[in-house]
Amino acid sequence: LHKVTIQDLIRLKQKDEPIVMVTAYDYPTALLADRAGIDVILVGDSIGNNVLGYEHTLQVSMDEMISHSRAVSKATERALIVGDMPYMSYQPSDRDAVLNAGAFMRDAEVDAVKLEGGTAVLSRIKAIIAAGIPVMGHIGLTPQSFSLLGGYRVQGRDSGSALRLLNEALALQDAGIFALVLEAVPAPVAKAITERLEIPTIGIGAGPYCDGQVLVFHDIFGLSQRSLPKFAKRYVDLSKHILKGFCMYKEDVKSRKFPDEEHSYSLSPEELNKFQQ
Ligand code: KIV
Ligand code: NA
Repeated sequence: LHKVTIQDLIRLKQKDEPIVMVTAYDYPTALLADRAGIDVILVGDSIGNNVLGYEHTLQVSMDEMISHSRAVSKATERALIVGDMPYMSYQPSDRDAVLNAGAFMRDAEVDAVKLEGGTAVLSRIKAIIAAGIPVMGHIGLTPQSFSLLGGYRVQGRDSGSALRLLNEALALQDAGIFALVLEAVPAPVAKAITERLEIPTIGIGAGPYCDGQVLVFHDIFGLSQRSLPKFAKRYVDLSKHILKGFCMYKEDVKSRKFPDEEHSYSLSPEELNKFQQ
């Protein structure tokens, strides 16, 4: 079984074969994503909204990211694993960025890290790469800056900001990133960026012309508690099945149907006899 490398992703772009990426936050999910042949698994800081019950990603800590990333990497044989750097793990300084990216590599055994931002994070990216750690970029809608952006909204909708996105993408490529997430940008803008870059673009709400796509696990499987953004697609409604399973279990216990003999341990008649005396 061949482990996916960052060089493989560049080759996929050159071959015009789409890259498939998904988020996963735990061992069993990562195991199934890997078995399905997903190319890249992102342990996203979207774990905050989807798993930890936070309203935004800003509350997610390094400790939370490391323990979940470790679970994902233990489950994964083939997919490339990317650890998402949480809020304030890289913003303060290049030194913080390198130490925290290093913690992802050393303690969680991920293959690469991802961080949000354009021109503002170029020196962070160069410092992390200089430490031998591959970096994935992320521009457009960057949820860690939602307050500055005025909410979770589409980016690059006028020609000025679209051009800014293109220039940021080129600067990030020059800084050495191996791939770039484009989140919530108009399809023609993502197309132009994808054509100009040698490294692959991975879109989420960025139209069909990116080199790859990423979706959030909880959105794909109907487990998201928020209303789905326009770009998310639900393939399976797992919450329906889980709710049904909980109700069946509850009914069985309340009506004493469970546990039955099949799910209980017995005592040999001999031992039972002795025990009862
Ligand atoms: O945290 C996340 O899920 C992400 C993807 C949407 C790219 O950053
Ligand atoms: Na993220």
